[in-house]
Amino acid sequence: MSVTRRQILAGLAGVSALGLGAGGARYWLGRPEGAKTHDYELIAAPLDVELVPGRRTSVWAYGGQAPGLELRARQGDWLRVRFVNRLPEPSTIHWHGIRLPLEMDGVPYLSQLPVLPGESFDYRFRVPDAGSFWYHPHTASGEQLGRGLVGPLIVEEREPTGFRHERTLSLKSWHVDGQGVFGEFSVPREAARGGTPGRLSTVNGEASPTLELPAGQVVRLRILNLDNTLTYRLNLPGAEARVYALDGNPVAPHPLGREYLLGPGMRIELGLRVPAVGTALPLRNGPLRLATLKSVDSGETAADWPAALPANPVPEPDLAAATSLRFNFEWAAALSVNMEQGGAFKFWQINGQAWDINDRSCAERPIATLQQGRSYIFELRNVSQYQHPIHLHGMAFKVLDSNRRKIDPYFTDTYLLGRNETARIALVADNPGVWMFHCHVIDHMETGLMAAIKVA
Ligand code: C2O
Ligand code: CU
Ligand code: CU
Repeated sequence: MSVTRRQILAGLAGVSALGLGAGGARYWLGRPEGAKTHDYELIAAPLDVELVPGRRTSVWAYGGQAPGLELRARQGDWLRVRFVNRLPEPSTIHWHGIRLPLEMDGVPYLSQLPVLPGESFDYRFRVPDAGSFWYHPHTASGEQLGRGLVGPLIVEEREPTGFRHERTLSLKSWHVDGQGVFGEFSVPREAARGGTPGRLSTVNGEASPTLELPAGQVVRLRILNLDNTLTYRLNLPGAEARVYALDGNPVAPHPLGREYLLGPGMRIELGLRVPAVGTALPLRNGPLRLATLKSVDSGETAADWPAALPANPVPEPDLAAATSLRFNFEWAAALSVNMEQGGAFKFWQINGQAWDINDRSCAERPIATLQQGRSYIFELRNVSQYQHPIHLHGMAFKVLDSNRRKIDPYFTDTYLLGRNETARIALVADNPGVWMFHCHVIDHMETGLMAAIKVA
């Protein structure tokens, strides 16, 4: 199951150079007709930015920005990204929510070896589903994501949708002080609770920005939670907004309602009817303003609500024939740590097992083995006082029901499991490999709340 450096190098030799310059990232707009590959060179490197006015913060950027460059591809096409590591430490890229082969999944030692400083790695895969996805490392996640290595990956529908305008809003908070200096990304006493929050909230790397939107149009807002810890209580008071997709899969359009809980790793796509010129709408997290949406003259005729987005080709689980498995997400009081021996804090566990982030052999002991092609129902039981955005790599799953709220079944890659909630999800185990199954509160994932699920 593990990968050797020789295999990686052999793999690289087979790919011809993309011929891109030293620019942060470049998109081949002029690609020939029918050549269905979207090519990028994506450099990860330190970068000084101004998060706090008048102060420099040394972040880690993808393509010269943090959050990273927005990558785009079209559904059914290939995406090729040459990842160049100019960071001071090893890294990988994981493509959150994309159904792809294990070798492209970015999990160190399982998918590939970590990409060392000065090295590069070519990711190449087909994107089967349209929607809002994202990318991030799967190495030293607390610090690497915390320093800014998170970015949107947008997969456009094959056919035009009714939306003529769209905006991507990447939400992230930063673990910086008032001088813009990074503090701890993870504090044990917080990791054992809800996770260590950042102090400075930003949208697209800016604190409380004003975004101009075309008056009278229905704009597609892709809101991505790229934060390590925070669950945003999203609300748009006074706005006419409808939900079009959750976590990269379309839903029947319905009003946003009072608020939506967007956990780490989750995404929501809204249709927003932009009001008359001069109106300013707040996008908020609970009572806190994240951004101001300002209507400006567009010179276009008013648009109507677009129809539902086309469904993605996710296989429908056969519930009658499905095998049920239960997963308990628990708080493990055991503060047993042995830092000298490279042990990690273990505050959390799944079915009595805590993942050890420093132990490469964990993936060799999958918590469940699924038979390829069969349908499964997972009963997810949160027996803790904290919520956990539960994420699975490699396959989308359908949320069936919950003991805490009414669910209209929908496909997703991340489900926010509330405290003491039991929910059922279902999937077809159609992607062979060993897939990470974890909480996306990075602190939780790094202190035990991760497991491997094998499909064979
Ligand atoms: Cu966003 Cu293991 O993933
Ligand atoms: Cu993922
Ligand atoms: Cu969690």
